[in-house]
Amino acid sequence: MTDLDRKALELLKKNRVEGPDFWYTRPGGKYKHQFFWDSCFHAQVLRHFDPAFAKKELLTLFRFQEPSGFVPHLSYHFDQWEAQFLWGRRHSSGLIQPPIVAEAAWALYEADHDTAFLKEIYPKLARYYEFILTVRDHDQDHLFSYLHPWESGWDQSIEWEFAFHGRQSLNRQWRLRFWLMTLPFRRIGWEQKRMMEIASFKVESVDGNTLLAISLGDLSKIAEKIGEKEEAGEWRKRAETVEKAVLEDLWDGKQFVDRYLTLGTHQMIKKRTPVTFFPLLLPGLSDDQKRKLLTLLARQYLPVSFPLPTASPSEPHFNPRGYWRGTTWININYYVIRGLWEKDEKEVAADLLEKTLTLIQRSGFREYFNPLTGEGLGERDFSWSTLVVDLLRRRPR
Ligand code: GLC
Repeated sequence: MTDLDRKALELLKKNRVEGPDFWYTRPGGKYKHQFFWDSCFHAQVLRHFDPAFAKKELLTLFRFQEPSGFVPHLSYHFDQWEAQFLWGRRHSSGLIQPPIVAEAAWALYEADHDTAFLKEIYPKLARYYEFILTVRDHDQDHLFSYLHPWESGWDQSIEWEFAFHGRQSLNRQWRLRFWLMTLPFRRIGWEQKRMMEIASFKVESVDGNTLLAISLGDLSKIAEKIGEKEEAGEWRKRAETVEKAVLEDLWDGKQFVDRYLTLGTHQMIKKRTPVTFFPLLLPGLSDDQKRKLLTLLARQYLPVSFPLPTASPSEPHFNPRGYWRGTTWININYYVIRGLWEKDEKEVAADLLEKTLTLIQRSGFREYFNPLTGEGLGERDFSWSTLVVDLLRRRPR
């Protein structure tokens, strides 16, 4: 175990929350409840040291799964009055987060080959992905939608300015604004199908749908492993369909862009953010797309001292200290570095990994960082920033 491993593990243990029937790692600092994609990231790291706990953490995610298959982005295993107060529900939010749980479950299996775990989690995963692919893809174009900026995990990104008349207003009172956006859902009791009908914010995101395609591929491997051959074939086909939709429908000729739905039509969100690099993870990316992405990466994102900024510095509202508005986040680098490996771009990946490690060494496992100075920002001892440990283990030799 390296010194970095030890520090990461210490942090994840410090942030551990255990009860009679729940086990998870809190994100850190002010976040004490269980967040969906955070837990998936924790599992990616914990699988190397404590796969037993990682499995319990992933299974705990499904504690409040609903009959529709829905799994909340935020689960309250205690202090449930907070859920009641914030969401008008008993133990969770009614929103989702990036659907990366099958990817985490498969990674966990690769660490210790526990087929019993796969058998236990598979039916829950299957119901969840069925929900994402049907209820959350109401126009059946093979791209699911987020119904609220919080669902994306990139809370205050410049991508969402279209919903606020292009104003920078998200910098002020954004919490209140975002909370107000949940009220119509609360009024209809968070009934997911109806939410889809009444939502004013509907976004088909590049990163979310790319990660969905990856997870469906992994779900297919899980099904195969436990002997569900026919279902494995179905999930594989669905993974390919989602991949194709990302590669064809979210490409604007120069980069990948999110789109939003308004009055029955799709509008591209022409912002410059690193969501565009997620499809590097997809096997079907064309050479032309790859070339354009690499040029963009080199020109707009890598020249800052500590990439990747979550908005290109060429964006008018780029803010190097702003929450998801230019700051560097470890989980985003995590996927882009893996994408670069996938495309055999070892040198660019090594450079980005090296700079990511320097950030952690200088500023610690902070929540996010100033891309110009490397200054650590947000919470300290932030659990998913330990993802660098998993990256070092995945690094191709
Ligand atoms: C913030 C982040 C979100 C994350 C959560 C807990 O809301 O924007 O992505 O899941 O904190 O870390």
